[in-house]
Amino acid sequence: MGQCPGCRAWNSFVEEPVAPRRTAGSGASSVRRAEGAEPTRLSQVSLKTDARMMTGIGELDRVLGGGIVRGSLVLVGGDPGIGKSTLLLQMCRMLAARRTSLLYISGEESLAQIRMRAERLGKFESDLMMLCETNLDVVEGVVRKYKPDVVIIDSIQTMYKEDVSSAPGSVSQVRESTGILMQLAKGLGITIFIVGHVTKEGVVAGPRVLEHMVDTVLYFEGDRHASYRLLRAVKNRFGSTNEIGVFEMRSNGLTEVANPSEYMLNGRPKGASGSVVSCAMEGTRPILVEVQALVCRTNFNMPRRTAAGTDYNRVNLLMAVLEKRLGMSLDSCDAYVNIAGGMRLNEPAIDLAIVCAIISSYKNFEVDPETIIFGEVGLTGEVRAVSMVEQRVMEARKLGFARCLIPQVNLRSLQKADGIRVEGIQTVQDVLRYIR
Ligand code: TYD
Ligand code: MG
Repeated sequence: MGQCPGCRAWNSFVEEPVAPRRTAGSGASSVRRAEGAEPTRLSQVSLKTDARMMTGIGELDRVLGGGIVRGSLVLVGGDPGIGKSTLLLQMCRMLAARRTSLLYISGEESLAQIRMRAERLGKFESDLMMLCETNLDVVEGVVRKYKPDVVIIDSIQTMYKEDVSSAPGSVSQVRESTGILMQLAKGLGITIFIVGHVTKEGVVAGPRVLEHMVDTVLYFEGDRHASYRLLRAVKNRFGSTNEIGVFEMRSNGLTEVANPSEYMLNGRPKGASGSVVSCAMEGTRPILVEVQALVCRTNFNMPRRTAAGTDYNRVNLLMAVLEKRLGMSLDSCDAYVNIAGGMRLNEPAIDLAIVCAIISSYKNFEVDPETIIFGEVGLTGEVRAVSMVEQRVMEARKLGFARCLIPQVNLRSLQKADGIRVEGIQTVQDVLRYIR
């Protein structure tokens, strides 16, 4: 049917298989359908101590909440080409060295292509079992036969079930397939990693149907042109969702970045105007970033403005605040704002750093390179409080900065800050005295 006779929407019908033998998504409970089921006491549930496996990739282990949980279903989402297959293959390589039995099922690449990628990553100490297959019934059969510890499904969008006649990647296919994988994982105690490509709208295909079925959702993100990648836990039944892992894509695969701040500040110019270091939070992790601005006289009636790595409208707003509150005539200037290193930040806490970078470039003086600046800027030019000040200040101290400019209102809540000078800023007029 093209149009729904109820709500009149076009092409909104989704195919469902008739008389489902097992309802997808009902999860662990449907696996063991015992007669006369008895409830169990919480205290009597045994906690298996070996329930977690370490992958040996520190950043990945942390994001997973301390290693892989046996029998869990993990979704790894991200844009095509961001490095999901590379990450999982690298994980396989580490696990193979620990004698974990693995099965890598690819519906996207041929065996030779996987081999080529594996060659780039380095030697595999023990063998990895691979299968090129997209038919989920066959996949299920193979998994049941070999019962490996860890299975990788690359990707869920290529898998299909024969009883569902819609195309692979459609909502009903993805949901059916995930339901089956869920039962396999819970029933056999196998950990299954599912790769899911994200659509243009930024959701894993099959509008979020996957996210509530799986135990853990990890997103792999980053600018494809920059080499750093962020792995973020969006949902985790076995750990915190605030953790992020930072990786760098090299020619021989992904390497962990243990100190992202140092990495982001690499190559910072000396003695240049328009460069300010700020501290952004990624989950619970503070990351120092360099905010750059270039303000120069325009040759056109309409000045040009660009913002890379941060919100364009926010930059326009901050420039309007500077015009009004500091009387700077920015209307005859082009302005370019950039977060160095290809990081994307939408946190208002970097407002004050953007403001300082613009002032610094406009007036052509260098901001003290030993100073870290953060704070939200309001429309009247007031500097407003930000969260997690202590972590930010500590990160600055760790990297050897001498001074922090923070919102005045945050100064009270800051417990102690040894080894670094902390100064409170009230307004954007105020900040001028501190950065020259
Ligand atoms: P891939 O893992 O295939 O992405 P996904 O599975 O998320 O679609 O990543 C492919 C990109 O990574 C590709 O552009 C090449 C790059 N790459 C490296 O830079 N170094 C490497 O060692 C590998 C294996 C890939
Ligand atoms: Mg891939």
